Amino acid sequence: MKRDELQKLLKDMSLEEKIGQLVQIPGFMIEKGAVLTGPAMEMGFTEEDLFNAGATLSVFGFDRIKEIQDDFMAHQPHHIPLLFMGDIINGYRSVFPIPLAQGCTFDPALAGQLAAMSAKESSASGLHVTFSPMVDLVRDARWGRVMESTGEDTYLNSCFAKAVIEGYQGKDVADADSVAACVKHFAAYGAPEGGRDYNTVELSERTLLDDYLPSYHAAVDAGTEMVMTSFNTINRIPASGNAFYMKDVLRKQWGFNGVLISDWAAINELITNGICREKEEAATLAINAGVDMDMCTPVYASSLKKLVEDGTVSEDLIDESCMRILELKNRLGLFEDPYHHADNRNADEVILCREHRELCLKAAEESIVLLKNRKEILPLAKEGLEIAFIGPYADNKRLHGVWSMLAEEEDTVTVRQGIEEIAQNNTVTFAKGCRLLDKKYPLYGFRGRVEEEDVDDEELLLDAMTKAKRADVVVMLLGEHPCHSGEAGSRADIRIPKPQRRLLKAIAKVNSNIVTVLFHGRPLDIRGVDRRSKAVMAAWFPGIEGGRAVARLLYGETAPSGHLAMSFPYCVGQVPVHYDSFTTGRQYTGNDENRFQSKYLDIPNKPLYPFGHGLTYTTFDYTDVELSGDTVTPTTDITLNAKIKNIGNRAGTETVQLYIRDLYGSVVRPVRKLKGFKRITLNPGEEGTVSFVINREMLRFTRADMTFDAEPGDFYAYVGTNSATERHLKFTLTE
Ligand code: BGC
Repeated sequence: MKRDELQKLLKDMSLEEKIGQLVQIPGFMIEKGAVLTGPAMEMGFTEEDLFNAGATLSVFGFDRIKEIQDDFMAHQPHHIPLLFMGDIINGYRSVFPIPLAQGCTFDPALAGQLAAMSAKESSASGLHVTFSPMVDLVRDARWGRVMESTGEDTYLNSCFAKAVIEGYQGKDVADADSVAACVKHFAAYGAPEGGRDYNTVELSERTLLDDYLPSYHAAVDAGTEMVMTSFNTINRIPASGNAFYMKDVLRKQWGFNGVLISDWAAINELITNGICREKEEAATLAINAGVDMDMCTPVYASSLKKLVEDGTVSEDLIDESCMRILELKNRLGLFEDPYHHADNRNADEVILCREHRELCLKAAEESIVLLKNRKEILPLAKEGLEIAFIGPYADNKRLHGVWSMLAEEEDTVTVRQGIEEIAQNNTVTFAKGCRLLDKKYPLYGFRGRVEEEDVDDEELLLDAMTKAKRADVVVMLLGEHPCHSGEAGSRADIRIPKPQRRLLKAIAKVNSNIVTVLFHGRPLDIRGVDRRSKAVMAAWFPGIEGGRAVARLLYGETAPSGHLAMSFPYCVGQVPVHYDSFTTGRQYTGNDENRFQSKYLDIPNKPLYPFGHGLTYTTFDYTDVELSGDTVTPTTDITLNAKIKNIGNRAGTETVQLYIRDLYGSVVRPVRKLKGFKRITLNPGEEGTVSFVINREMLRFTRADMTFDAEPGDFYAYVGTNSATERHLKFTLTE
């Protein structure tokens, strides 16, 4: 449709119809075609709201989508198609590693390919919009939603945000293989106090500007079609009513012209948040803040008409929001084809095709992080060993992460299946060893209580001990339940559950050759695991090919290459811990006799494994690290070159990381900041050069006078394999 046709359509629509476009109704409310379910009535939606709605959420499967679309369009006075939206976070049916694991690949291009694959399957199944990516910066491992982020670094998150949005949206969202992206949760949802979901966010303006906002900004620059507000407050004003951030920053400063949707019921929550007294006030605040669409509550639907009629809300505002939604539908091509090409395609041919499975495997292999490998116990020999694989994840299909609503257990390769494909000449045994969850602490997932099959604990333990005693090596497969992370998955104790700790302790008494592979949605407190294991792998929730990827990495069919996108804290008392902390007036020197330093008395300051850390099966030597010059000016960049040599006897991939420290500034500067990273794959004995350009642009920050710019002075450029590297060179920035 041309713009003037859209304008004509808008003009022709009644106020009710226009308001209807601003309403998203949850899919579970639509029974068959356009019929409301009981819960919809209870939530306060009327039959009319339903027919006028602009979008729906979580309706899956093309046949169902088509039936609803046809029915809605027949009822809607102007036959305006509905938008079908869904939370496709890490794959539709071809489920790949959770976003935090993707961050660990340090390979945004790969994440872009994953997003494109996800878009292809989603779109072929009838979806138009995915509520992804989540680009919230995360520093607190207690928060369950760290699994949905690509980690603790501003620059890394921004690179992933751009790549993922481009992957979803492709060249044109109207194309058959594209879906519209919705970046979330604007803003700073990743910083709830104490890591408790939905909690208050208290950040200084500078921290918000320099650390938290850039990834959303990158997403807007990459052309995201939608943005979602967050549940939290920003400067004590909830995001969905925060006109400054939603209008001045997002729209005016960054030029976002797409659709801004509230998070689920977040407009209604302006009331529980104590900002508004009732629904009409909440609707007024949100619409004035520029929130176009109300997710899954009838606040807009039930209030806006009256508010326009009594003059509280200008109809122009309704028109603006409605137009943005119509424009999105138009860019998706829905006025010409309300099924977005899905009816001409056979989703089954795309879903889980060989190419998609291969990409899931590659992503799983690249995202798993080898944290430790003492005495090079890994890779395992393929012959002549007896190996016992023990733990609740030894033969477990729940490797998807909590958001994968369409994942099927039958699609998933377990670790056992992966091992059996490779280890044909080894004696391998498998044992569950214990239940995954502690019986004492019931866990509630998205769909009620998580039940485990009833097992005989002592029998499981005995079987595992017998197998462990006989084995040359024991591989422990342990971890959190998927429902321990994700939304409302906050934990104050971030160790693996007690039955598994007890199992590991018992096994360690009979066999000291332990390798532990962890499945998890967050960095964990793994002190006990680390102490008892010669090697530790962080496998996260790796998706449908996870078991095969773990097996291939354990046996060295492929070498680990993941690097942590989020620090593993020493223990929960150290959280939040992140590599880019600020210098203090009393920086810890390492001398514990001096009490008056910024340090703990009982634990180290350093995390157990820092951001950027990751081992492989070979060693890399850094030589000839040089700068092309020692002065950066507004018009002169310099280049840092480093020679990287594989000095081991296996091929491997190194992720070379560049960090910069600003030695003095008008405000306190972080001890270092990631400014570049490059992956390089080298054969044994092979050498390659990695180069990074350093320019003035990357040295900017929010200065004492609140302007965003660099300040002349001295800097260190660190280059190495993780954020703790001490290898550095000095340069100067002049005017
Ligand atoms: C979450 C969002 C999600 C939405 C729709 C909310 O509870 O915070 O991330 O997209 O639900 O499912």
